[in-house]
Amino acid sequence: MTSLCNRLPRYNSSMNLDDLVCYCFHVPYRKLVHYCRREKPRVASQLSDCGGAGTGCGWCIPFLKKLFEQESGRSGSKPLDQVNPQDYAAQRAEYIRAGHGTPPPSAQPPPAKEP
Ligand code: FES
Repeated sequence: MTSLCNRLPRYNSSMNLDDLVCYCFHVPYRKLVHYCRREKPRVASQLSDCGGAGTGCGWCIPFLKKLFEQESGRSGSKPLDQVNPQDYAAQRAEYIRAGHGTPPPSAQPPPAKEP
């Protein structure tokens, strides 16, 4: 079983608010932050009400949990400030290829595997 910490990439450049967090349902970071501030979800799973985030392949769930913790004041760290968007997408592709999750047909396809 993959722990949350193992799924959180550690990189230098960071996502910005327009980058996608949930590739399956095309949900950007900005939309999730605004959802949290407007709707004040009580549990992290309520972020799925924001465009279906996290209900596809499951890759983004650890990030959604960290985002929820940040926005609800339970964590001072900004979870996606340490994530490189290209590496985030590439790691999602590896996650899907490894059979950990199945994206819906409407999902953004994972990038091609590098030679
Ligand atoms: S990337 Fe969010 S469920 Fe697949």
